[in-house]
Parts: sequence; C-alpha cells; structure tokens
Amino acid sequence: MADIRSYEIVEGLYLIKNPQLFFNFNSYLLSCPLDQNIKLNILFDPLPLRCFKDFVKAIDDLIGIENIDIIYTNHQDPDLTSSVPALLDLSKKAFYLTSQDTWRLTSGYNIDPDRFQPIELLPNRKLKFSKDSDDCLQFIPTPFCHFRGAYAVYYPKLKVLFTGDLLGGASTKKSEGIYADKDSWVGIKLFHEVYMPTKEALRLAIDQIGRLAPIPELILPQHGDIIKGDLVIEFLKRLNEIDVGLDYIKKEEREKELYIRVFNDMLDYAKSKYGEKAVIEKLNNISIQMSNYPEIIKIENGVISEVYIPPATAFVFIYDLFCQHLSEKDKEDIRLQSIAIFKKYNLSVPEELLYKRSSSLVDKLRIIFNPIRI
Ligand SMILES: [Fe+2]
Ligand SMILES: [Fe+2]
Repeated sequence: MADIRSYEIVEGLYLIKNPQLFFNFNSYLLSCPLDQNIKLNILFDPLPLRCFKDFVKAIDDLIGIENIDIIYTNHQDPDLTSSVPALLDLSKKAFYLTSQDTWRLTSGYNIDPDRFQPIELLPNRKLKFSKDSDDCLQFIPTPFCHFRGAYAVYYPKLKVLFTGDLLGGASTKKSEGIYADKDSWVGIKLFHEVYMPTKEALRLAIDQIGRLAPIPELILPQHGDIIKGDLVIEFLKRLNEIDVGLDYIKKEEREKELYIRVFNDMLDYAKSKYGEKAVIEKLNNISIQMSNYPEIIKIENGVISEVYIPPATAFVFIYDLFCQHLSEKDKEDIRLQSIAIFKKYNLSVPEELLYKRSSSLVDKLRIIFNPIRI
C-alpha cells in the first residue's frame, strides 16, 4: 500500500507525494477561487497508477475527486500519465490539458478526444481563469527537457512554476520537510545527467525560466524536493553548467577509461590498507544494501570494469558509501588519496572531495541507484 501524504504549500496549493520511496513522485493540486462559491481545481502530473487508491483518497479529502476541472501532464511518461484515464472516469467534468506532442502518445490510453485540450490552441498559450481577471496559467515550452512537447506551467499570482521532470531530483534530502536544501543538489544533478538529453536543451529551458517576470519563487518539480528562495537561482545556475545525456555520453568516450583507472587505483589502495577480503566484503554489502535499483558500477574479479552513470558522480556515491563506518582519520586519508589519484590522471577533482566532511553525503540522501554489479 502506498503511503501518500498531502501538504499545503500556500493557501489553495497542495503537494501530494509518496514520501517513503527513494525515487519519489510529486503531484500538485491548485484550487483557485473564481468567485465566492466556485473554485477552479487543477491537478498537475498525477501520481502513477500504483498509488491510485491512496492518491484519489488524498484528492477526495482536499476537494472531492469529482471536482477536478483540469488534469495537466507535462509530458507522456507513465509516472505522470498512467492514472489519467481512471481519474477522468472519476472526475466527469475534468478535461485533459497537455501538448499536442504529448497527446499523440497518451491518446493510446483511449482517452475521449473531446476531453483533450491542446496547450497550443490556448490564446498566447495562457489559460485565463475568467474574462474579467488577469489570473492565468502560462505555458512555457521546455523542448526536449526531457520530451519534445514538454511545457512548464507558470502561475504568476503565486510566483510558482510547475516544471515536471525539469529541476526534479533522483533523490530527496533525508531531513524532514518538503523544501530543498543544499544537499538536494546531488539528486538533481544525477537526475539531469541521466534523463535530460543535452546541455543545449537544458540551457534553452533554463533561459526560458530566467525570462519569466517576476522570477518564480517556488519551483515545483515532479520528483524530489520543492525548490525555493535563493536555491532557485543557485540550482538553475549550476544546471546551466553541467553536462547531461548525450554530452556526457560523448565526453564519456574520452574520459571513462581514465575514471575506471581512478576507481581501480582507489580499490588497490583500499585493499592494501584494509586487505582484499575486507574490501570485497564491504563492496558486496553496499551492493546488497542498495538492491533493486539500476547499478552504478560493475566489478568483475575484484576489478571495476564498467561505470553506468557519469563517472565523477559514480565516484562520489561509491566513495561516500565506502567511507561509511570508517573513522574520521581513515575518511580523511581516503579523501586525500582520492584527490591525489585524480591529479595523477589530470582529471578535475569532484567538488565533493575538495572539502572535509564529517558525515556521509549518502547518509543524508535517499539514493535510487544500486551502486555495484558484481
Ligand atoms: Fe519523464
Ligand atoms: Fe518523471
């Protein structure tokens, strides 16, 4: 049974999520008063079908499931569209709002075409709530982030931006609360490296967000933590600089071999320090701990032979897991040794290794990736 919880972000805006999962899903409900008696209820990126029963109950408790007016999806992936047909059955007056590119694919769910409203046919790509007010949603194209027909949605009145997968995180921070802190970045970076197609597409989308006036104060992604305050600009700036998707694959061709040498040099160092048996046992334990998720590295015959995600990110994850339960002195020794090996291969040292940490980064994260295949 899914554990679904709802949170009021501001009056009339709710987050509904499954907080217990490593890779979490966020749906949002916006309930806007049109006059004293009528509200417009818009559901963004519904939770997937596997959460359906509890998701419906959460909506029912907030507004009554039959009162949804609009169901919006950023793109066509099943994590946000699989519940749409059943929700449309329960919410008879609701229509389905999405892009034509998305509809071409989601129409495969056999949704009544009369209930589909394409974004592209809205005047100026704005959905005005009434003739007499400026209250509206603005649809911001974010092409190929990560789908061709993806649109973020801006609600200027609350200065909130619903971004779908863009600015989503592969993990949430471990500390309580729904808002991102600086530890959320690791999950955001990893998610974009894996799911965004190219730096160019990502930069185009970031540029679109940067042009919004006023600049959004809250970013509401479909995965991970809600981003607010100074972190909005901070994370946008950082995303503007990272390599993702195809960039990483192209770069990987050049750099992967070097990173594998870094991994194996570190492994040799750890074996000489703790003994081969102890190191292999530790790696096995890490692997068991993180089962059922995609892997990060592959170890064959005690040697690292493959890296499945951007190697610098993989290194930080494995390094942190390896350092768990080591003494502070040993952690510092491993950190300095890692820096020396990166320098030896003329690779830039991952930022996370440059400063001394007293606690584990992974400890603070709910990670989705299984680090090792042995
Ligand atoms: Fe997606
Ligand atoms: Fe998603």
